[in-house]
Amino acid sequence: MTEQVSKQFAEKFSGKPLIARSPGRVNIIGEHTDYNDGFVLPAAIDKAVYVAVAKRDDDIIKLYASNFNEAFETAISRIQPSQQWHTYILGIVDQLLKNGHPISGFNLVIDGDVPAGAGLSSSAAVECAVVFALNELFNLELHKMQMVKLAQQAEHAYAGVQCGIMDMFASMFGKKDHAIKLDCRSLDYEYIPLQLEGYKLVLFNSNVKHSLASSEYNVRRQQCEAGIALIQPHHPQVKKLRDANMQMLDDYVKPADELLYRRCKYMVEEIERLTTACDDLKHGNLTSLGKKMFATHEGLSNDYEVSCKELDFLAAAVKNNPAVLGARMMGGGFGGCTINIVKEEAIDELSATLYKNYKTAMGMDLTTYVVQTDDGTAILE
Ligand code: GLA
Repeated sequence: MTEQVSKQFAEKFSGKPLIARSPGRVNIIGEHTDYNDGFVLPAAIDKAVYVAVAKRDDDIIKLYASNFNEAFETAISRIQPSQQWHTYILGIVDQLLKNGHPISGFNLVIDGDVPAGAGLSSSAAVECAVVFALNELFNLELHKMQMVKLAQQAEHAYAGVQCGIMDMFASMFGKKDHAIKLDCRSLDYEYIPLQLEGYKLVLFNSNVKHSLASSEYNVRRQQCEAGIALIQPHHPQVKKLRDANMQMLDDYVKPADELLYRRCKYMVEEIERLTTACDDLKHGNLTSLGKKMFATHEGLSNDYEVSCKELDFLAAAVKNNPAVLGARMMGGGFGGCTINIVKEEAIDELSATLYKNYKTAMGMDLTTYVVQTDDGTAILE
């Protein structure tokens, strides 16, 4: 992929580019918890975005996306958000300028193999690759956590998704053979070895593009805040759902609003579940971890309501399969992938059977990715 992106750069532009790579991510457990100041357990994967970039002598930005075979050009002073692929790149430029980091024009080629709309954070991978490359190119001396926050702001401002910090963090800080337990309040993190001993992480892509995700995602965020607003008058120390417990929900949210109650209940349960799931992972108790993943799916589907019939089908289809320790929908929801812990030798057969059954039931093709964990954002050349 590095060679491919350099070659494309040479075809479109001149000069020797700098090349950065930033991976997609999985999340083992802890979904929608990041913007509630809870914990998450993501890992970077061996699917990544690559950018090749070099300075220009003027204030023009010229971009080329290999996956779309499409070029885009703008003056720095004229950048604006759009619904297209370049919004993630320009969103980074916008944040750099807003935060007082002067940059001039550049040429950039982008390529990669993180499927878009599959819940693997292709947009965060783009943002992290671009901010990392521009930081190096223009000697901005930003450190990784600053770049993570800047990428998150770019997503808010230019993609319109009020996302939490998990995706950018995982892409930037990933470490091969490890998951990362991140405390989304303090931003303290701990690398936990991911020893799957004969099992693998398998993603089943429903191929439902999570188009509802951005609007409904923002609604879920608001619902969590509405839940807090009901609790806070009685417990002023509760700033986020991380600080709430079931008793508080029963006392103040349930009587006021049944829907908000279900949203908040999932959240309080998930934040608790993640902590014990991390202990399972540390103790090598994958069976117990897997059970919690199924429980997370139930919560996301019934209480938080961010699943869809295709994802529910995929989670249910493996539930009683002894070769599958755990499965659940992953990421923002409304489409994308399920994440599964599957016994290595059962993967091929499971994938073939599921492909057939999914096609019959949902009329759609299923795509299987067997993923490995990988390192986070880096300059390659
Ligand atoms: C998306 C967001 C993340 C996170 C997940 C759900 O991927 O970008 O911040 O909230 O959904 O866990």
